[in-house]
Amino acid sequence: MRLPDPALVVLVGASGSGKSHWAASRFRPQEVVSSDALRGVVGSGEHDLDASADAFGVLETVVAARLGRSLTTVVDTLGLDAARRVGWLAAARAAGLPAVAVLFTTPAEECRRRNAARDRPVPAPVLAGQLKRLPAVRDEMAAEGWDTVVELDEAAPTTEEAAHPPPDPSAPDDRRSSTGVEVVLQVSRFPWGEDPLAWLRSMALAADDAGFAGLAVMDHLIQIPQVGRAWDPIPEPWVTLGAIAGLGTGLRLGTLCTPVTFRAPGITAKAAATLSALTGGRVFVGVGAGWFEREHAAHGLEFPRARERLDALERGIVTMRALWAPGTKADAAAGLPETTSYPRPSAPIEIVVGGSGERRTLRIAARLGDACNLPARDVDVLDHKISVLHRHCAEVGRDPAEVAITVLDLPVVGRDRDDTWARVERHRGRTSAAAYAARTHAGTVAEHRDRHADLAGRGVSTVFLSTPDLDRPEDVLDLAGLNV
Ligand code: UTP
Ligand code: MG
Repeated sequence: MRLPDPALVVLVGASGSGKSHWAASRFRPQEVVSSDALRGVVGSGEHDLDASADAFGVLETVVAARLGRSLTTVVDTLGLDAARRVGWLAAARAAGLPAVAVLFTTPAEECRRRNAARDRPVPAPVLAGQLKRLPAVRDEMAAEGWDTVVELDEAAPTTEEAAHPPPDPSAPDDRRSSTGVEVVLQVSRFPWGEDPLAWLRSMALAADDAGFAGLAVMDHLIQIPQVGRAWDPIPEPWVTLGAIAGLGTGLRLGTLCTPVTFRAPGITAKAAATLSALTGGRVFVGVGAGWFEREHAAHGLEFPRARERLDALERGIVTMRALWAPGTKADAAAGLPETTSYPRPSAPIEIVVGGSGERRTLRIAARLGDACNLPARDVDVLDHKISVLHRHCAEVGRDPAEVAITVLDLPVVGRDRDDTWARVERHRGRTSAAAYAARTHAGTVAEHRDRHADLAGRGVSTVFLSTPDLDRPEDVLDLAGLNV
């Protein structure tokens, strides 16, 4: 069961129904606001009923403060008080957060048994009163306007394992995940210390071990500000991929993306064909119009206006395809007197057109691309871009099935909820934690798999995934499971 996140989650159920137990198993301690625990903070202990008013005062303050920051807040009280429930619901609405009520329908017998086993049981008549009130509470909740009311029987066996069967280890050569997408690891930072080659090898071997379908590197001359500092190393990609090719892994290798402004397309075609020969045909080439003016100026390269760069992108794809096609005859479309270039690629090289400009870039992708790379951050934007791409396909007479949809995905991936949150805090800079977590879809591997399955449903076939935490091979291995 996946609940919205961030969200207000209000627990409702009798004593011993398992509310606190459930909350502790799914949320970080800081996310759970418990009236019992606060009685222990402002009073002599969890059972200090004289401290209830003060405890609820603090609880309301904490709930309001967290919701005001769009942070997930789990309210762990009996939840039987309609006025309080409605107040929390209104606070969630005001904060623009989804509101979930979780009703614990654990059988009365089980609640009594657990209650009796406690150090300080709730008096039997009190528990009986709570249990008696539950059916009416259920009806009240149905009318309160919750986005979701979940009913949970915490005495029932967990269905978590049934929902996530272990991956099928067969078919090791097909590196498509059971989510329906293939996940390619994008390495954008190179904190390689004193031994660049050892670092590169260890990262690539870890990516292979972790089951990724491929490895992509950016093609930049200066590290881009979105990723790091201008003096951080950002190696030449074809040299880098050549070193990785020497490892003989099963990874597909390529760039995302190579700006057409950097090299004459014939030279990029040569580099990619060579890499194809070295890897047994596992190569893709991301291509784009280029955007980072500073790196061009610093390296003595022209940076023409967008229209000319897009013209060059179009010509560049035609030139590369001509040089990869069999035979050596002249190619009129590319304006080449002959197309003699060896080695030929060992298998077709996939051209991934990067950039999401709707008028030209997506049209170029529709006409000439094997794939079109789009941003994954916002699925509504993604759906829209895909529809524009398909409209271009219709206009130029291309079967949309011939143009794969790929996405660049920049998530925060944690080992568990606590670890995820620690990473959000580490990387968020001045962005609020809630906004950063939303932008990066911060979550565990299992949560990202669910999201990737959703992307597959929208037509995505490849996810190029880059996380801000790729410093060591262990960080890559933490991502194992994304592509199984
Ligand atoms: P909880 O302490 O979670 O109940 O479980 P609760 O709903 O929050 O109760 P109140 O309202 O605070 O009084 C009661 C006992 O049952 C165990 C818990 O460890 C706890 O000792 N329990 C709960 C389980 O053993 N398994 C479960 O699935 C749930
Ligand atoms: Mg409790």
